[in-house]
Amino acid sequence: MQLRDNGLRFSPITIALHWVVAFLLLAIFILQVLIGHASSAALQQELGRVQNLLGLMLFLVSIYRFWARISAYHPLPVGTPNPIEVIISRSVAVSLALAMVLLPIAIWASRAAAGDVVELPGGWWIPSLLPANEALKQVVDGLFDIGATAFLAGLALHIFGAVKNHFLLKNNTLKRMLGKHVEL
Ligand code: HEM
Repeated sequence: MQLRDNGLRFSPITIALHWVVAFLLLAIFILQVLIGHASSAALQQELGRVQNLLGLMLFLVSIYRFWARISAYHPLPVGTPNPIEVIISRSVAVSLALAMVLLPIAIWASRAAAGDVVELPGGWWIPSLLPANEALKQVVDGLFDIGATAFLAGLALHIFGAVKNHFLLKNNTLKRMLGKHVEL
């Protein structure tokens, strides 16, 4: 099996982890909505624990993913896109991968600075290595807001690019990310 991306194709690991991350992120957003509508504090807490676990999984997968992205060739684009678009789309993709490492750290740091423990299902928890400190929390929350806004804007651009390639340019960019073998 091809373990790393090369100039001609994404590895199956890259493709699988790309969609694992997308689904984990979606599940985290859905849980956030459910937490907002939970009928009791106990249910809210339990859903919060599951959300924390998904966040931890997202973080661990994303460490590998970011390293794999910056340490291997990005396959050549499908078709003949404008070089500026290629540079922008690749920079956005790398930033999205990095954001999935940094944003979970910011959430963990914010909870620690608030004096809260990040609880997981089954009585587990993630140790808070930072002291409770209101000023620190404000700084971390400010950085998180900036990072999360930039991330959402980048993700919107990324999805727009995928949709444009698929429906407007009618090329195999999205199908390649879904595992289709594409000859370049
Ligand atoms: C509906 C959601 C998404 C769609 C339709 C989508 C689509 C795509 C497509 C078509 C590519 C291949 C681009 C190319 O050929 O160069 C790609 C690559 C990439 N996407 Fe997405 N994407 C989605 C969500 C995400 C999310 C949530 C992230 C990260 C948080 C992400 C990060 C990346 C990265 C880093 C790459 C480069 C390949 C890699 O290292 O995985 N994408 N995406």
